[in-house]
Amino acid sequence: MRRIVFSVDNKKRKVTIFDTTLRDGEQTPGVSFTKVQKCAIAGELSSLGVHFIEAGFPASSESERDTVREIAHIGLNSKICGLSRSVQADVDACLDCDVDMVHVFIPTSEVQRMHTIRKSPEEVIEITGNIIRYVRDHIGLCMFSAMDATRTDPQFLIDVCKAADDAGATIINVPDTVGIYTPNRMHKLITGLLSHVQCPLDVHCHNDFGLAVANTVAAVNAGASQMQVTVNGMGERAGNADLAQSVMILESIEGISTGIKTEHLVPVSKLVSRYSGLSIPPIQPVVGDNAFSHESGIHSHGVIACSATFEPGIMTPEMVGHKRRLTLGKHVGRHAVRQMLEEVHIHPGDVELDQIVDKIKFISGKGKRITDADLYEIADSVTGTANGSRTIILEDFAVMTGNHVLPTASVRALVNGKKETYSSTGTGPVDAALNAILGMSPFRVQLKEFRVEAISGGSDAIGHVTIAVEDEGGSTFDASASGDDIVLASAEAMINALNLLYRIREQKKNP
Ligand code: KIV
Ligand code: ZN
Repeated sequence: MRRIVFSVDNKKRKVTIFDTTLRDGEQTPGVSFTKVQKCAIAGELSSLGVHFIEAGFPASSESERDTVREIAHIGLNSKICGLSRSVQADVDACLDCDVDMVHVFIPTSEVQRMHTIRKSPEEVIEITGNIIRYVRDHIGLCMFSAMDATRTDPQFLIDVCKAADDAGATIINVPDTVGIYTPNRMHKLITGLLSHVQCPLDVHCHNDFGLAVANTVAAVNAGASQMQVTVNGMGERAGNADLAQSVMILESIEGISTGIKTEHLVPVSKLVSRYSGLSIPPIQPVVGDNAFSHESGIHSHGVIACSATFEPGIMTPEMVGHKRRLTLGKHVGRHAVRQMLEEVHIHPGDVELDQIVDKIKFISGKGKRITDADLYEIADSVTGTANGSRTIILEDFAVMTGNHVLPTASVRALVNGKKETYSSTGTGPVDAALNAILGMSPFRVQLKEFRVEAISGGSDAIGHVTIAVEDEGGSTFDASASGDDIVLASAEAMINALNLLYRIREQKKNP
């Protein structure tokens, strides 16, 4: 007989992670992954250590079946799950993909029963038992979801869960389908259900009121053995519980082990953001650009002395694959600026340092973001140390684009004093331009960030492009450029970033 272990000692507890980025996550309005992207994401999720990957809804289309089947055949460490309505044809579509687990669901709340499947409570109980028995006749793992559990009559929810348990469900999912629960209620619901069923419980929370992560953690604290999450909190409407946040709360605050290799969290988040086209807000917890960034003088000063002063301490940037950054802006302090300059062997005197800080505050006070390249230029102008060394000097630049033309860019530049030309194509003119410059570059770098802001309104607006690149050693360099032609400004920003990388390397070699 399957047994749930009630444990109050979190240190001994382990929770399994069920990732539904490729199913509920892909239901985010406007998002659609290609098969190649889905396979790549599945591979990264498996390396991250998630226990289950919900790869899709095979009955929805032939191409979805093809993708789920492909993921199931990669041979990943994670178990692969397919979603199925409570009908045999859907289950067969999952089985046809060779998944490890079938996830069957049925609406249980009155509003969903009446308006979607038009079934009575008795019919729902009968369908539940039959479909789970059908799945278990064919495959060892069956998850059952009582859809809209949190708006379901409490006694009826118990009855459905008991029917699922008796029929052989290996785990029962309790979805807060429209995100209307609060942590206290979730804790009570899970505690109550656990006293009626033998099989473990799983939780799936939506974020309509911003409580998905809190509700997920409450469910786990009440004894749920598994949580459903998505990368970057993607999902229907306001999304699902965010994987990185839920995992880090359990690991760092609650002391519950998830088995996740947390240092992969930021890279996975960035990959999914790129493939989904959903950018990560800088203030997103755990993975956002600002999660470990410090600008204000008091904070930066404290963090330079001891990082735990103004960071959680129980969660460090290294733990999640992030980097601590001191940023420049109108709140910047002398300590941070001195540290940033000393890292590249620029040593201003006290009066010079004051002048540099004043200039940074003045420029950023006008709303302009200050990059590393800007900082060194300011420091050079104050200390008179500009060495003028630029490894790449742009001479000629041309881009061809149109509705029936593959965007192509050609660049001619002096690279270390030698004339070089290079052409490349891209998905658009900016991509082509950056590819051409990177092709010509003596350094191997990866584009980490690309941002365009319009400085004024209208189609003749000045565009301000900010770029960050990362070298093979993991150091990042950011630079910017402005102009009324954003393709040219992008090319110049990339060249500025590469020149900055060169300069810092030279400065480190000859301090
Ligand atoms: O939100 C929901 O209820 C779902 C089910 C399919 C589990 O996504
Ligand atoms: Zn959902």
